[in-house]
Amino acid sequence: MSEMKVQKKFSIQAEINVSPDKSITHRAIMFASLSSGECIINNYLNSKDCYSTIEAFRNLGIEIIEEKNRVLKVYGKGINGLSQPKHIIDAGNSGTTVRLLLGILSGNEIEVTIVGDESLSKRPMARVIEPLSLMGAKIIAKENNYLPIKIIGNKNLKSITWTSKIPSAQLKSSILFAGMYANGETIYKEPVLSRDHTERMMQYLKLPISKKELVVSIKGKVKEIKPFEITIPDDPSSASYFIAMGVLVPNSSVLIKNVCINPTRIGFINVLIKMGAKISFINPRVVYNEPVADIKVESSKLKSIKITEDIVPSMIDELPLLAVVATQADGVTEIKGAQELRVKESDRIKSIVTELQKLGAKVIEQPDGMIIMGNTPLKASYDNILESYNDHRIAMSLAVAGSICEGEVIIKNAECVEISFPDFWNLYRSI
Ligand code: S3P
Repeated sequence: MSEMKVQKKFSIQAEINVSPDKSITHRAIMFASLSSGECIINNYLNSKDCYSTIEAFRNLGIEIIEEKNRVLKVYGKGINGLSQPKHIIDAGNSGTTVRLLLGILSGNEIEVTIVGDESLSKRPMARVIEPLSLMGAKIIAKENNYLPIKIIGNKNLKSITWTSKIPSAQLKSSILFAGMYANGETIYKEPVLSRDHTERMMQYLKLPISKKELVVSIKGKVKEIKPFEITIPDDPSSASYFIAMGVLVPNSSVLIKNVCINPTRIGFINVLIKMGAKISFINPRVVYNEPVADIKVESSKLKSIKITEDIVPSMIDELPLLAVVATQADGVTEIKGAQELRVKESDRIKSIVTELQKLGAKVIEQPDGMIIMGNTPLKASYDNILESYNDHRIAMSLAVAGSICEGEVIIKNAECVEISFPDFWNLYRSI
């Protein structure tokens, strides 16, 4: 599959499961690899990005076995048990793999080279290189910022206090991983709360972490991570495409089961509710230190909204989708403070603005976001071939646009959804 044809949907009545959470799967594999024995990860995400992490740790000497029914067994060799890899680590498209792994490798005295695909090779790494180098890792990167990167870890890492201007969970997690290996307490302060799965997993694993509002700290040197079992909830970012369709397609009612509703991840849902969407959480519960619920969505009439930098991190991956939704809301929607979108898998501001314009949307690109006029019917014109920029979140956002658009739309390089949601097109067609 390289192209996908999508058409307007008229009513959706569905009860579905989306894919397991990508961020939590990456972290579970990493902690399990550093644990001192057999770990069981239930409902892991078998997507390309997570295979980048699995392959990286296999290459570092960890045995990882995929069993039936989505069970992953990881045989950790202890916090200092990683061995010199036989070949270069290829992180593919996955920023989470590279940035978190650099934190871990900082404390392991081996020499590792990491490469990535064309998109990942353009993404900034200085944000992690700078603090990790200060802690004592030796890191050599192209132009001090890009892959390929060579890292030589140091078993005498120093703790640091790092105040970040970028609200990035990847950066925070990288420093927390390195902090496990450092002498003393490593403190990280962020400008706005970013997703906190690393902290929650550290708490679940009883590691010496403490957090208060925007400050999180970890006491080194952690000696052991006990083997553990975990069950991953489904991904709110993957759910968001079906939530959006449930809201936008008339006469619809969609129930999405078993979704992670961690407050640092559900900015998109909260914003939709503010815009007037009928969304409710059913049977909220806590599973392995993550809040989980079933999400019920019904077609709704929406009004516009203003998005400012304080809520951007909680919906960072859903902002292109919000642009699609906002074309149907009453009024003008503004997204500000989202310059980080420019350094994702594609320049997501440019990507979504360009493609929505092809469907007749009135969207204006801004340096740090966009302005979207509402009440605009989408229509496929002579130019109905949409570019995904090989970016999974753009492809899925455009699929939602196609579901409310007059005329057939063709999405190019549609297979890129395999990065985070391998079953996306099957589920999309089935509803
Ligand atoms: C992620 C953090 C976010 C997000 C990415 C996954 C994570 O990136 O966009 O899809 O798992 O920590 P940043 O930390 O760069 O904001």
